[in-house]
Amino acid sequence: MKGIILAGGLGTRLFPLTKITNKHLLPIYNKPMIFYPIQTLINAGIKDILIVTGGNNAGDFLKLIGNGKEFGLQHVNYTYQEGEGGIAQALGLAEFFADKDKIVVVLGDNIIEKNIKKQVEDFERQKKGAKILLQKVHDPQRFGVPVFSKIAGEQESKIGGEEAHKIIKIEEKPKEPKSEYAVTGIYMYDSRVFDIIKTLKPSNRGELEITDVNNDYIEKGEMTWDVLDGWWTDAGTFESLLSASKMVAETGANKTD
Ligand code: G1P
Repeated sequence: MKGIILAGGLGTRLFPLTKITNKHLLPIYNKPMIFYPIQTLINAGIKDILIVTGGNNAGDFLKLIGNGKEFGLQHVNYTYQEGEGGIAQALGLAEFFADKDKIVVVLGDNIIEKNIKKQVEDFERQKKGAKILLQKVHDPQRFGVPVFSKIAGEQESKIGGEEAHKIIKIEEKPKEPKSEYAVTGIYMYDSRVFDIIKTLKPSNRGELEITDVNNDYIEKGEMTWDVLDGWWTDAGTFESLLSASKMVAETGANKTD
């Protein structure tokens, strides 16, 4: 299994912080943001990693991460996304790297308290399709939100069972979310993801949406899901950038136990 970190975009929601640098190079407590998704992959046993960057200061990633020595790596792969085509377009650039292998994709601004080792092992055993990871949030309208086949918002203990709660679709940033869960920016796909990306049309915000990719797998009946252990946050807005730093300072991130 190979790992892909998506770290492009212009980070306009964090302007002017991102006027002279890339969002993923900003600090989260005592480390640059990009260090956390790299550690997420490494803790899951994934050492073959591609960083897709773009926008401002792409060269600084090479300067910062190099061959990944600090992470115990000997080599890191990089590629460049021109413009702002969205998450799915950025992922499309990874086709040559994936080379028919299964992939784990982590958005460069997604930070987790614990690890995804179990879920990656589960996906290794999954014959085909995709897997997404969910987390309960207080502001689901900011994210992709799963719609379950049973009434949303039932007790969390019940949500755990995939059989009882099948995801029938994901709605991207719904005004009236149908569940309290966000689809986190950690996705696992088989090699057909690149064929799906080629069929996508730009959304209202002019981007190729990862939610459209996920809905394609859901329609095929090939999507599994799990709830992440520990806290999860993105860091793409001023509020989440601040709270991410606080959470990391208070409890630490990327725990392996
Ligand atoms: C993206 C996805 C969204 C997902 C989120 C996780 O949103 O489109 O479905 O819940 O990442 O961080 P964006 O950050 O592009 O608004």
